[in-house]
Amino acid sequence: MRTYHIEGGHRLAGDVPIGGSKNAALAIIAAAMVVDGPSVIENLPEVRDIDTLLKICSDLGAKVERQNSTCVRIDPSSINTHEAMQPLMESIRGSYYLMGALLGRFKKVKLRMPGGCDFGSRPIDLHLKGFQALGARTEVAHGNVSCEADQLVGGSVFLDTVSVGATVNIILAAVKAEGKTVIDNAAREPHIVDLANFLNTMGADIRGAGTDVIRIEGRPYLPANQEYAIIPDQIEAGTYMMLAPLTGGDIKVCGVIPKHMEPLTAKLKEMGAKVEEGEEYIRVTHNNGKKLKATSFKTMPYPGFPTDLQPQAVVLQCVADGTGRMLENVWENRYQYVDNLRMMGANILTSGKLAVIQGGAKLTGARVKARDLRAGAAMVMAALAAEGTSVVEEVEKIERGYEFFIDKMRNIGAKIKVVENNS
Ligand code: EPZ
Repeated sequence: MRTYHIEGGHRLAGDVPIGGSKNAALAIIAAAMVVDGPSVIENLPEVRDIDTLLKICSDLGAKVERQNSTCVRIDPSSINTHEAMQPLMESIRGSYYLMGALLGRFKKVKLRMPGGCDFGSRPIDLHLKGFQALGARTEVAHGNVSCEADQLVGGSVFLDTVSVGATVNIILAAVKAEGKTVIDNAAREPHIVDLANFLNTMGADIRGAGTDVIRIEGRPYLPANQEYAIIPDQIEAGTYMMLAPLTGGDIKVCGVIPKHMEPLTAKLKEMGAKVEEGEEYIRVTHNNGKKLKATSFKTMPYPGFPTDLQPQAVVLQCVADGTGRMLENVWENRYQYVDNLRMMGANILTSGKLAVIQGGAKLTGARVKARDLRAGAAMVMAALAAEGTSVVEEVEKIERGYEFFIDKMRNIGAKIKVVENNS
């Protein structure tokens, strides 16, 4: 097990190149398994979750050839099973996109329920509701999901809750269904648009991605045989952007799409940070040493403030002036990391969806754990802002979604030592 030993109190400054979006890449790799021809996917992030999903695709018989560290060619023509039952399926959430992909490809699928971060219940009822709308029979038994259709026929589905995963999975099954599918109350995240753009590049007919109504005209054959580059990761970018006001520093995230960062940019300005936007970069500085002002955040589906930046924003609120609030509207239990922040001197009250953060805290170094991917990144942020040295344990969870995390942090002045504990 690996730990990070972090010396806090240093001002962080410099440029951070942002990698491809993990959550777009997971959906697009699954989409490469439903099209008929080979596809080349560029700008993949170099993170563990991507390696895991590519390994699963290869185990299913697809020809997966890394062209280099950020580019892969996937030829699905040799996929030889509709069953994805490998234990590896449980190690990530994104493996469940193979439900829609294999159902779309074979009109049947059986797979092991996925894993992923623990924020309380993570149901898949809306995914199954979507598949049923396409004519599939679905069953969940013994920890596995089975879906089968004599014929996939386009249908309409209303998502009771805005769900990224359900929107992705229904698109993956519908691109091969006969006729038109309409997804109402669809997720609007940038990675949904990226998925639709990938599939349309490969021959599909998807309209409305990025709005709450997505229309898919099913096609029997998707030739593919094209290349596609993934969008930059808005959550990686947002995590680094917050380090500037947190440490009184000056951070420029490069290779981003500023529009995707608007929900965070607006809040940073509200708190008094200085934000400069270029064509493909955003620079955040501490506004001439003025103290940050605490504010209220609430997480919402895009274009609201992303839940995947919630732990990081709570850390930022710890050092701001005044009382800050966070309302977590997406996940039922995404404050488990707060106990670790309290050990560092944070003064945070949580009750259900609400967290009230007493600002002006003097964070001090402590031994803490990475509870999950984004909470782990927040622990590192808190350690970088704290007085003294902190130890962050279980950092493998962070490395699932942040490429070259230590290199990028050290390049902006972070003092982090990596210790391999072979216990
Ligand atoms: C995706 O998870 C992301 N994961 C999560 O990011 C992210 O937090 C989440 O979307 C919200 O943006 C990947 O893309 C791999 P949802 P997903 O379905 O698809 C409820 C990270 O850090 N719901 O949008 O699982 C659900 O309980 C990860 O990269 C149902 O009720 O999230 C939640 O309250 C962590 N029934 C809400 O919808 C369903 O069938 C949103 O979940 C499905 C979801």
